[in-house]
Amino acid sequence: MMEDSLKSQQPRQEKLDTTTRIATPKDLEACLSLRLEGLKNYPYMLGVTKEGINEEESKIELKEELLPHKNKFYILAEKGSVPVGISFAIRAKGDWWHVGRDYTKTEFMNQGIGKKMLARRLYEILQKGGATVTAFIRPDNDTNIHIYTSFGFQEVDIMSTQYSKETKADVKETGFLCFELDLTDPDVIRRVDKVLNAG
Ligand SMILES: CC(C)(COP(=O)(O)OP(=O)(O)OC[C@H]1O[C@@H](n2cnc3c(N)ncnc32)[C@H](O)[C@@H]1OP(=O)(O)O)[C@@H](O)C(=O)NCCC(=O)NCCS
Repeated sequence: MMEDSLKSQQPRQEKLDTTTRIATPKDLEACLSLRLEGLKNYPYMLGVTKEGINEEESKIELKEELLPHKNKFYILAEKGSVPVGISFAIRAKGDWWHVGRDYTKTEFMNQGIGKKMLARRLYEILQKGGATVTAFIRPDNDTNIHIYTSFGFQEVDIMSTQYSKETKADVKETGFLCFELDLTDPDVIRRVDKVLNAG
């Protein structure tokens, strides 16, 4: 009886010991290691941008990006003290933010870490006054499309969005889909709360 009850608690415990927070300069080595590992396996991980594709460039870029900024931040996910995932958010303009660069270590995938990192970013963006959030996702990335749409992200017509001509050309060339979220929607906020409070 007792054993049954412990078994049923196990999945929840797995999620409970995953924490997410804004990364700081002290997390440089952890973030760099996750980023390089992710890029090795998934070279498209930096989305439509090309910067940071080797170790030295990644280190220089990350060093700057981990400083306290009003307009960009990395989320670091940890299981206990083990860094298991990173992801990025940047203010595009005004209350419009963009998210991407998601990576969960292969052996920790499908344990809710990607969803939790997205919920944490949306929460932090809300705190910073964000209202619209966009993401570029490869059409063949079913996992990420599943995660983003589960929060209410909707695929939008690239031509109808507010991007510059330059970005549109990039998106078309690389075949990224553009998703958009209305962060002021109460259903979205409820979803963010639910994922963060699930542990
Ligand atoms: C995308 C990524 C960050 C997701 O991380 P994760 O920690 O595994 O994500 P989660 O465990 O929170 O969620 C995975 C969800 O996708 C679902 N899923 C898994 N494989 C899937 C597939 N082939 N098709 C559709 N959904 C899938 C899971 O069932 C789960 O959803 P559920 O909780 O509703 O059941 C991770 O897969 C990754 O690092 N991928 C490589 C890099 C990448 O593609 N980054 C994104 C582009 S920048």
